[in-house]
Amino acid sequence: MFPIHRPRRIRKNEIIRKMVRETSLSPDDFIYPLFVTFGKNTRKEIKSMPGCYQESADNIVKHAKEVYSLGIPAVILFGIPEHKDETGSGAYDPKGVVQNAIKAIKNKVPELYVITDVCMCEYTTHGHCGIIKKGDVMNDPTLNLLAKEAVSHAKAGADMVAPSDMMDGRVRAIRIALDSEGFSEVPIMSYAAKYASAFYGPFRDAAESTPQFGDRRSYQMDPANRREALKEVRLDIEEGADIVMVKPAMTYLDIILDVRNAFDIPVAAYNVSGEYSLIKAGAKLGWIDEKLLMMEVLTSIKRAGADLILTYFAKEAAKILNK
Ligand code: PBG
Repeated sequence: MFPIHRPRRIRKNEIIRKMVRETSLSPDDFIYPLFVTFGKNTRKEIKSMPGCYQESADNIVKHAKEVYSLGIPAVILFGIPEHKDETGSGAYDPKGVVQNAIKAIKNKVPELYVITDVCMCEYTTHGHCGIIKKGDVMNDPTLNLLAKEAVSHAKAGADMVAPSDMMDGRVRAIRIALDSEGFSEVPIMSYAAKYASAFYGPFRDAAESTPQFGDRRSYQMDPANRREALKEVRLDIEEGADIVMVKPAMTYLDIILDVRNAFDIPVAAYNVSGEYSLIKAGAKLGWIDEKLLMMEVLTSIKRAGADLILTYFAKEAAKILNK
């Protein structure tokens, strides 16, 4: 007896495989992270993230042009300020690193959509995402600072703000502040289900934001929790989030799927630094095929339900997709 069902028939060659492919990636799906630092003509490769750099605003503009020319519609900016302090005042300094970079990009590459990461950890001496009192991160006093930071990004010309701090109530605080300052059209993409993950290790080198004591487990989510992600996402949507994010991505595909199924607003997923660096390291050792693995991972994230993918691979993947 020969089998009636032969799924292999429609896998015979690339033409038919392409025709029945269920998921396709496009550069339009990507958001590319950039690390802005102070000074001029600075470009320092991040050791644990080959191919990623800390750059001063002048070089960020050149980089932004390259990103745009590859068909990637958006970047997300992270700041590494010259001076840090207890309250992270660099975060809402009108002349801060991110504020300057937004203006520079908008001046030279106005078509590129500029998103900013809104958080305190890159700007505080202690490296936590909020104000510290008696060794604890204070929720409510931090909200005002996050709102101030978001407004200052909008004033500089940011198209969208993305709070990543995981304080309770921050989406609402930011929404109210943006609206009352005349930025009711600036959307919020919230890092809604953000887990306390060891995959952020290389990013903390890049952003110089490693907490100087303790860890982030009193505000970021426990990796063991699945239902709680839906609660976090629901609250952020109720508070006014326009896009919700799941982070990390690769090991949280179940969460992306749950969020996609439960809500009807766009879902973003952050393919984080450790996910990138592991692939880069494996490739350097010659143990894996970097390009194939990169495309497989990005496709899987999309297949799970992400509409948008924040990824350090954006440029390399776009080059392949544009061929
Ligand atoms: C800031 C922030 C982090 C990341 C994005 N925004 C680090 C953290 O929470 O420690 C991680 C991004 C990455 O690992 O690529 N709160």
